[in-house]
Amino acid sequence: MCGIVGISAKKNVSSDIVQCLNHLSYRGYDSAGLSITKDNEIFERKIQGKVTNLENFLNNDPISGNCGIGHTRWATHGEPNTINAHPHTISNVSVVHNGIIENYHDLKAILEKSGVNFISDTDTEIISQLINIELINGKKPLEAFKNTITKLEGAYAIVAIFRGYDDLMIGTKLGSPLLYMKAKNMIILSSDAYSISDYGSSVTYLEDGDIIVTEKSKISLHDYSLNTIQRPSKKIKKRDKDGLNGHDHFMIKEIKEQPDVLSHALSYYLNFSKYKINLDKYNFDFTKINRIIISACGTAYFAGMVAKSWFEDIANIKVDLDIASEFRYKKMFFDNKTLSLFISQSGETADTLAALRHAKENDQKIVSVVNTVESSIAKESDLVLPIFAGQEIGVASTKAFTCQLATLASLVLFLAKKKRHINASQEKALIEELVHIPSQVLDVLKYENDIKKIAKDIHKSSSAIFMGRGATLPLALEGALKLKEISYIHAEGIASGELKHGAIALVDKKLPVIVLAPDDIFYVKNLSNMNEVYSRGGKIILVGKVQNNQLKDLKLTGINIEVNGKLNIPIIMSIPLQLLAYHVAKLRGTDIDQPRNLAKAVTVE
Ligand code: M6R
Repeated sequence: MCGIVGISAKKNVSSDIVQCLNHLSYRGYDSAGLSITKDNEIFERKIQGKVTNLENFLNNDPISGNCGIGHTRWATHGEPNTINAHPHTISNVSVVHNGIIENYHDLKAILEKSGVNFISDTDTEIISQLINIELINGKKPLEAFKNTITKLEGAYAIVAIFRGYDDLMIGTKLGSPLLYMKAKNMIILSSDAYSISDYGSSVTYLEDGDIIVTEKSKISLHDYSLNTIQRPSKKIKKRDKDGLNGHDHFMIKEIKEQPDVLSHALSYYLNFSKYKINLDKYNFDFTKINRIIISACGTAYFAGMVAKSWFEDIANIKVDLDIASEFRYKKMFFDNKTLSLFISQSGETADTLAALRHAKENDQKIVSVVNTVESSIAKESDLVLPIFAGQEIGVASTKAFTCQLATLASLVLFLAKKKRHINASQEKALIEELVHIPSQVLDVLKYENDIKKIAKDIHKSSSAIFMGRGATLPLALEGALKLKEISYIHAEGIASGELKHGAIALVDKKLPVIVLAPDDIFYVKNLSNMNEVYSRGGKIILVGKVQNNQLKDLKLTGINIEVNGKLNIPIIMSIPLQLLAYHVAKLRGTDIDQPRNLAKAVTVE
């Protein structure tokens, strides 16, 4: 996952940039680079692969200067090669960027019409090209930078250096983090406090829309209208070697990685600029398939449950879904038009592997959706669709769940198109839903403080109910699993319509009921079930479309989530449930990453 550094100092900054890139490398990346200004020119070195490749490159062909920027790239737009590596230098400017420029294809089309040639496949290059044009048109760097960022949509942290300005760095952020540190004889900009903690003990975080300008040893911060502003500095923790990156647990670290890993997974399966699904690259014959069997365990099973509704609604393909431990003992009606699909984070879950072998013995074609591509499940499959979540260490599956969904959504769209069940404009609209998911996850993560308050209110409960309908029923089951496995609170997920067929007997003023009601066709029905809980004094937490009158009249707690698409609801709405489980467990002092009796890979039946 990408990392940014920028250093201005009274000495050559090349080796310090490389050191910071090494400290950013824990995030995962596939290329690295730096650029430095000296004698009114920009010098750039970048290379595919590890920072050691960059170090070797610099040993053979060094660059030096007092001001420079560096980047570790985890490919999202365009292959992980040297050309797509950052920085992106276009004659007068060199840029490093984290995040996604969502409107880059529109901006690129405009520039291409006016004769601009693009070198890379990245969304980042549009930033360098736009700033360069402003500079050619006579604008000063700050104005050129500001005029450019006003055109960008998406989430980003950007730092730029300029030809002819040996000591100048300009940066900004929207959605993605950017901070600065005033160290001894040095100013450092970074996307990650942790990676620069060897240089000092406090940093200043930029807020969205802030612009930072550093020139020699001077730092100035500006708001969007270029008024000077101040931001408070914060003490930071020292870098440690445990891989937690300053977080208390892997689970919360992994929850927060989701915008990055989702954009990685989605950009592998989708061509964002052409609004196309990239699954044709697999030499696998999907043409005959008219039925899919899905099998998995735990959270992966709930991903399968979401996928079933997508395959049926969007691709018009019938799906039979089974828990893997049941699958192998059941009559499955295999035939040569059926595809067997297995979902597993670890790729080693014994029941899922046994189910796969059972399908294989029955001459089924096997597709697996896995995180660990070296796993047994992957090795025994005819086609492997990796989910690109990166290593998941916390026992509670979080980022693997949303990346499984992103991967499955891509497969659904691919098959829907192959079966001609969606037309070009429906395909475009569904891809557009997926494109916005990383930045929507980032927005929902901002509810963490509200969720902490809810966690405080419910953490002493002995039981909880999650309820949903349609797209949110699998989430109700997943939310309950997440809560029970790490907090040890008994939790049940139910279909909202089933409430009055039994679970309503549990409702009293101590019982938290988490109602999952997005702005979809079930909203009104969900609300009437919520009212049934309210009338019996239950403690309602509404996640979805929250209206002001509900907050007042029903005195409920709400997390307002504004997505209403078929594909984005399950992905986005799982985030608050993960945060809720985490903060409840934290308040209860459980062993969050390794809850009692559980293992990360369940390799026994
Ligand atoms: O590695 P897998 O995805 O096959 O694992 C399946 C389940 O064991 C797993 O999802 C488990 O339910 C998690 N603890 C859920 O958070």
